Amino acid sequence: MTTPTRSSWQSNIGFLLAAIGSAIGLGNIWRFSYMAHQYGGGAFLIPYLVALLVAGIPIMLLEYGLGHREKGSAPLSFTRVDSRFEWLGWWMPVVAMFGIMLYYSVVIGWCVNYLFFSFTLAWGSDTQAFFFNDFLQLSDSPANLGGLRVPIVFSTLLVWMVCWLICFRDIRHGIEKASLIFMPVLFLLTIIIVIWTVSLEGARDAIANHYLHADWSKINLFASDPALRKSAGEVWAAAFGQIFFTLSLGFGIMITYASYLPARSDIAKNALVTCVVNCLYSFVAGFAVFGIVGFMAHSQGVPFETAIKGGPQLAFVVYPKAISMLPGMNSLFGIIFFLMLVIAGITSGVSLVEAFSCSITDKFTWPRQRVVTGLCLAGFLGSLVFTSRAGLYLLDITDHFITNYGLVAGGALECLIVGWVLKAKVLRAHINRQGAAIPSFWNLLIRYTTPLILAYLLYLSLGADLAKNYGDYPIDQLVLYGVGWMLICLVAALALAFQRWEPKKLKRRHRPEEDDLLV
Ligand code: PFF
Repeated sequence: MTTPTRSSWQSNIGFLLAAIGSAIGLGNIWRFSYMAHQYGGGAFLIPYLVALLVAGIPIMLLEYGLGHREKGSAPLSFTRVDSRFEWLGWWMPVVAMFGIMLYYSVVIGWCVNYLFFSFTLAWGSDTQAFFFNDFLQLSDSPANLGGLRVPIVFSTLLVWMVCWLICFRDIRHGIEKASLIFMPVLFLLTIIIVIWTVSLEGARDAIANHYLHADWSKINLFASDPALRKSAGEVWAAAFGQIFFTLSLGFGIMITYASYLPARSDIAKNALVTCVVNCLYSFVAGFAVFGIVGFMAHSQGVPFETAIKGGPQLAFVVYPKAISMLPGMNSLFGIIFFLMLVIAGITSGVSLVEAFSCSITDKFTWPRQRVVTGLCLAGFLGSLVFTSRAGLYLLDITDHFITNYGLVAGGALECLIVGWVLKAKVLRAHINRQGAAIPSFWNLLIRYTTPLILAYLLYLSLGADLAKNYGDYPIDQLVLYGVGWMLICLVAALALAFQRWEPKKLKRRHRPEEDDLLV
């Protein structure tokens, strides 16, 4: 029997839209905006930009370069670099699929519910009470699951079914085709929402005074007051965490997507385009979020600070309230806004499923369709815990630990493995042979600067979590859903790494052009 050849993207634009689709997600629309507000308005853009330059772009280059060079998902790519690190290659997609996607699918499910609510503005006038008491029926603690919320179970099932339908087909006919349709629609919907919002009364002032206006004291790492210095440290840590999350780095997704690229592809250009389009999208989406809050504050005659709320409340409490207050066509605005979130979420969700299913099909001889079906089924069953009445607490805890530790640790370790084991210069030479050249200081970033900065961030997060229970949740729940969940993922990764490879799956091309670099 001959080994089937690896599938590939039909076009570079198909690949780019799929990668950008993974990057642009729920995190770009409200997570970014809320962080910008909380951490100093326009001044937040500085740490965000620095994080993009010193971690975002270099690691995107690394992931694209590695996936393209090794022609494999994360486990296969790391095994080919050095089999001792296969476990890391597994840990990343396991966390993506069973850490992130389980709750990410539920939040997309909420967006689906709210999309339907938009038709009748079903949330009424007290959107906060509606969200917490009627919709989530939130229990009193993470320990009290309180049963499942049936409407959320159904919307989550729908999300998994759409992801299954897309991932079931091969990469060209599934993810690529879906991205070619969904992404232009997403851009169009976003433009409509931004223009509509900016034209509302009070929106432009809020954008100028709260979004683009900078509070420099919040990012000054050298402030003489130690309390200010500490809070500035948190802002920088948050900016790095956001860059990882928003660019879908540290999960093996971009490694997998790049493994489907044809032999000749301009890696550097593709990486730069993905990063720039994603971050520009966040910046532009910020106009819609700040604008709508400004409009609401203006209409109610309250200060901006009173009107804005963080986390999930921004999309599910503040937005619905603002939508109800619009001068006309409220339902249409709501439908467009929540459809935008659903599309952004689905194109990210399929990338989380793909990273894991490709890892499985790379190692084992099971057919793709069967793997995807099994995974989506298991994924749906796993996400049921987040559709319980304690779902909001659980996803908050899981998200906190995965973004602050899992992602950052994954990013730091991949830098070290590529930088020191494969050698940064080898991967850089590979990338540069493909098209646009990256400068030699990338080697330094990957070997020293980026892992050091990420290690410092881990230290900062650990210090903050040890000083105070995150979100004031009980310690047993933090250990169970935060630390425990990641440890279970680690055990699963080790178990998968201990399975034997079929020798033909590990075969790789000899590269005489690299012989002198490898010594
Ligand atoms: N990048 C997506 C967002 O910003 O919402 C979310 C995401 C997708 C995170 C895929 C991580 C990931 F692996």
